[in-house]
Amino acid sequence: MQEIKLNGCEQQKRWQWEQIQARLFRYNVKSLSLGQYQQAGAFVINESKNIFIIFLVAKAVVSGQMTLGAMMAVQYILGQLNSPVEQLLGFIQSSQDARISMERLNEIYEVESEEPAGRIFHPGLPEDKTLHLQELSFRYPGAGNEPVLRNINLTIPAGKTTAIVGMSGSGKTTLLKLLLGFYPPNQGEIRVGQSSITHIKPSVWRRNCGTVMQEGFIFSDTIASNIAVADERPDLQRLWHAIRAANLQEFVLSLPLGVQTRIGAEGNGISQGQKQRILIARAVYKNPDYLFFDEATNALDANNERVIMENLDEFIAGRTVVVVAHRLSTVRHADQIVVLHRGEIIETGTHESLVALEGEYFALVRNQLELGV
Ligand SMILES: Nc1ncnc2c1ncn2[C@@H]1O[C@H](COP(=O)(O)OP(=O)(O)OP(=O)(O)O)[C@@H](O)[C@H]1O
Ligand SMILES: [Mg+2]
Repeated sequence: MQEIKLNGCEQQKRWQWEQIQARLFRYNVKSLSLGQYQQAGAFVINESKNIFIIFLVAKAVVSGQMTLGAMMAVQYILGQLNSPVEQLLGFIQSSQDARISMERLNEIYEVESEEPAGRIFHPGLPEDKTLHLQELSFRYPGAGNEPVLRNINLTIPAGKTTAIVGMSGSGKTTLLKLLLGFYPPNQGEIRVGQSSITHIKPSVWRRNCGTVMQEGFIFSDTIASNIAVADERPDLQRLWHAIRAANLQEFVLSLPLGVQTRIGAEGNGISQGQKQRILIARAVYKNPDYLFFDEATNALDANNERVIMENLDEFIAGRTVVVVAHRLSTVRHADQIVVLHRGEIIETGTHESLVALEGEYFALVRNQLELGV
């Protein structure tokens, strides 16, 4: 509603809605008339059977092969037969409807499971937690021929922080989605240590990945269940540790119901920054080996961001972290910075080496450098 009012497009949206309603109406009429045809068809079959038999019997009576009494008996039997035949025809009609519904349902059932029953996966994650991306190429299914990622060769060292920067639309989020196994690469492979990511059970892999995605989702539930999404009974100690790490304690303590406050669609509204902090707390609560942050702190003020970064420092130590960010303050301390440009890696290095190079990275952060950091 807000967006419609702001852009003054009430007229257009109303017309679109009316067109949809009109189409809906036409479909309804069509389905009604189809139903009529089906019923009329059943009626014709049933009645013509009756007429045919009566004709035969009457003919037999006229020609003297059958008595009038026998004809009455046949009439009676025919009357008795009508309702089962009608039932049978009704059944055929319903089975036609059911077959059409089944076709629709099958579209969902036929989607292959991520973890097919017969497939053998590694029981856990390998010892060596380094991520290797080799000759990775990817294009979204059904979205043109231009690959979103091209020939990505990258090593994400275990226990270190890797930052990915690049212009909007350069493929940073896509790279994270590939790493999380939401899409299989078209070419190349992703390896964890020595084993390909396809040999690791997706659920096991994701259990070890804490993520804050750009379009992260807040469920309509309490704050506690939003942070401890996978636990029926949140572990309070871990919950508060996560809340403190995400600098949420002030917000939570200001609410009369504390962590039991309902948020999301049916509860309290929250600000973008609070949403991001809840998503960060969710990742911290999970206590994973890998952390993937996609613009996790871009809605936060500098102060909040600094506090969270300091809090996370301790938490991050020893974990493999990939951060996607536009802000210099978030990426400058990363052990490795990767610059993506139109789906290709064009520079890698540390903040100092890339600034000295005066290439794409320098161009991206120059404005922020001049602010005197
Ligand atoms: N689901 C999708 N289907 C088809 N194309 C997509 C899809 N998601 C993203 N793209 C395209 O892939 C390209 C890379 O998108 P991506 O979201 O990875 O960019 P990004 O680097 O994260 O940008 P930003 O900094 O704005 O978040 C874009 O050109 C986008 O149009
Ligand atoms: Mg993105």
